[in-house]
Amino acid sequence: MRVRILPVGMEVEVDKGELLSDILSRTVSFPLPCGGAGYCGGCSVRVLEGEVTPPSREEQLIGVIEKGLRLACRTRVMGDVAVEVPRITPVATVSGMMPRFELNPLISKSGPRDMALPRSLPEPSLSFKGIAFRSGGGEIGLAVDLGTTNISGSLLDLRSGRPMVEGFARNPQVSRGADVITRMEKALEGEGEVLKGLAIQGIEDLASKLCKAADIREDDISIVSVVGNSVMHALLLGLPVDSLSVAPFEPPLKMWVSGPAEEAGFEKLSESWLVVPPPLAGFVGSDALSDLIVAEMLELERPYLLIDLGTNTEVMLVTDDVLTTSAPAGSAFESNVPSGVGGVRGAINRVRVTEGGIEVEVEGRPVGLSGSGLISAVAEMLRWGLLSENGRMSKELEGRLRLVDSPRIEVTQRDVREVQKAVAAVYSAWRILMRRKGLSYEDLKGVYLAGTFGSHVDPSDAIEIGLIPSVDPGKVISLGNTALSGAKLFILSEDAFNRFNKLYSMATYVDLARDPEFSDVFIEGTYLRRRLHS
Ligand code: FES
Repeated sequence: MRVRILPVGMEVEVDKGELLSDILSRTVSFPLPCGGAGYCGGCSVRVLEGEVTPPSREEQLIGVIEKGLRLACRTRVMGDVAVEVPRITPVATVSGMMPRFELNPLISKSGPRDMALPRSLPEPSLSFKGIAFRSGGGEIGLAVDLGTTNISGSLLDLRSGRPMVEGFARNPQVSRGADVITRMEKALEGEGEVLKGLAIQGIEDLASKLCKAADIREDDISIVSVVGNSVMHALLLGLPVDSLSVAPFEPPLKMWVSGPAEEAGFEKLSESWLVVPPPLAGFVGSDALSDLIVAEMLELERPYLLIDLGTNTEVMLVTDDVLTTSAPAGSAFESNVPSGVGGVRGAINRVRVTEGGIEVEVEGRPVGLSGSGLISAVAEMLRWGLLSENGRMSKELEGRLRLVDSPRIEVTQRDVREVQKAVAAVYSAWRILMRRKGLSYEDLKGVYLAGTFGSHVDPSDAIEIGLIPSVDPGKVISLGNTALSGAKLFILSEDAFNRFNKLYSMATYVDLARDPEFSDVFIEGTYLRRRLHS
């Protein structure tokens, strides 16, 4: 069958069932900003005629269908087709799914809009004022997700609400420890100011990089919103971390912080206004609440599970209210295993065992294994009986599954043990939340994966190893880095701000360690198997 590509005027022969995105990237180098994960909307095209597969859940959520468009990465060709590709190249994205929203930015030409803090939140302290929306100053905003490993940012045109350029950079705090626990220890030993300076430096360096790409100056940025986990929040604002290091692990400050960025120690962005939403609990930060805002603005049908997978995995069960918790999953998902390399070009993202041997999915020359590649390898070993449910590799593997010989890329017995611990932690989190609500797996209308890592995990692999409930894989949707989407929405939409405050007062934090069933559920979770019965 044939696909006609307009306005290029090219006609190509394709196989039935091929993805439009594969055809278009092969023929006209069509960009796929989120790599075809289905959450960015950047691959929207217009199918002018011909038979294609019906709209997917992602396309309905993003709202492309009502505009008469389709996501190329979710549309398969079923007959002769004519497709129109846009002339404008989409902005490369590092953020996640964006819901439809009414543009109502914090800084409006029409004048200042003052908003009071909700009564349920304490009065702001420090030298910052309460949330106040000022006028003038500029038309550009910067949204930031201050992650433990990476900092992602989006420069926003406040007149149109569109991103101008997006990107990410390494968090320079990595030089003081890879994880939040080490960094808290450093802060407790008196290095708090250094860590604060590094966080600011990381944000400002990223801002400079984005400004350069957009051909503007840092002074043009009038507002900066920053979301992050509770430790990043405290370190950025120079707050003491003592309360985060001992039970019940309370964040030092639970309130919106808003004020001149200069007062918070910014130099390059000293002309900007800084807005930082509050964390909910010790290990449920404003990044997780941003995920929740996006999920709610997408109007996802309840009940649903929202899981932000990472070193510290946040799990939220949304019914008529919201239960949240966090699970220390360790660094296996962040590819912190000997063959791990994170989500870089050359990372193996998928592994398939076949009769003929091992097949790996990788862009370019393989350099290592990503977190999703590791999960994929473990799932395949289970499917092929090369791994038992209790995590023991079969004798014939001799303690390792070799994926590539040169450079040597493999999954070892030890890596499997790390995955097992991570799975047990995440399983315990959603299992206990669901038990508290008396819900079975069949009750769930969806399982939504947030975070960059979660976006690349194959749902069937995640189900196979018991990381998520055994639901119909069609109900598992990747939302991408919705923490950054949330940071964007705080700048662009008053509705997002109001929803945040509502969800903040609705959400209840569940401390897993205090749950009487925790140890039993955790042990159950170390078995790598489908969670078939609730
Ligand atoms: S590439 Fe298709 S939605 Fe991002």
